[in-house]
Amino acid sequence: MRRKLVVGNWKMNGNRAANAELLAALKAAGPWAAEVAVCVPSPYLGDVALSLQGDGIGWGAQDCSAFESGAYTGEVSALMLAEFGCRYVLVGHSERRAYHAESDQLVADKAKTALAHRITPIVCVGETLAEREAGHTDAVVKRQLSAVIHTLAHCISQIVVAYEPVWAIGTGKTATPEQAQAVHALLRAQLGAATAHAGEMKILYGGSAKADNAAALFAQPDIDGGLVGGASLKAAEFAAICRAAG
Ligand code: 13P
Repeated sequence: MRRKLVVGNWKMNGNRAANAELLAALKAAGPWAAEVAVCVPSPYLGDVALSLQGDGIGWGAQDCSAFESGAYTGEVSALMLAEFGCRYVLVGHSERRAYHAESDQLVADKAKTALAHRITPIVCVGETLAEREAGHTDAVVKRQLSAVIHTLAHCISQIVVAYEPVWAIGTGKTATPEQAQAVHALLRAQLGAATAHAGEMKILYGGSAKADNAAALFAQPDIDGGLVGGASLKAAEFAAICRAAG
C-alpha cells in the first residue's frame, strides 16, 4: 500500500508571525497516518526548518533553478534548498509554467537537479479549461510528463507527480473524483511503461482540495494524496485534509 502524502503549497503568502502561528497549530493537530509537508516561500525556509525540525512534518520549496550555481540573478539552487533540509520541491507548477513561461524541458531539468541533491521533486502537470474542452487533457498531461520521463530515465521512480487541472486551481471548482482518477490512472500507466516501480509512486491531486472533498478524492485507487493551495493556509482546514488522507 502506498502511504498517502499531503503537501501544502503556501504560494506567495505568509509572514513570519503568521507562519509561526500556522505551524504551531499544525504541530498541535498532528501527527497523522499520512505523510505531511509544506512548501513555503524560500525566505522562510530557515524559520520553517527550525520550527518543524524533529516534528515529523516535512518542508520544501516551490521552485528551484535548473542550474547548479552561477549568474542566475533571483534564482535559488537545489543545493541551497538542500542546506535547509528541504525534502521536497515543486517543479512545473502551472503558475510557473504560465507566468514564467517554463517549458516542459526546463521543468524536467529542474526535477533532475533536485534529485541530484536528494530532494524529491513534485512534478506538476495539468490542462487548462480550453485544453479540457477541446478534448486534449490526456495529450497535454502525457506531453508534460513525457519530458520528465525522458530526462530522468531510470530515476523517474524517485519523483512525486501532482495532477493539478489549471481550471480547478483557486477557482473553487474541484475535479470530480472520477475525473481526477481517470487522469491519475493514465499518468500511472505512462509511468508504468518507463519503470517497474510505477505502482509504488505517489500521484497527488491538486485544485481546490478542501476538507469536505478530500476524502472522496483520496478514496480513488490512483490518488495518493493532495497538493493543497488555499486550504493549506488555514490550520484547521489543512489538518482536516491531512486526517482525511489517514
Ligand atoms: P488551490 O488548492 O488553492 O486550488 O491551489 C492548488 C494548487 O495550485 C496547489 O499547488
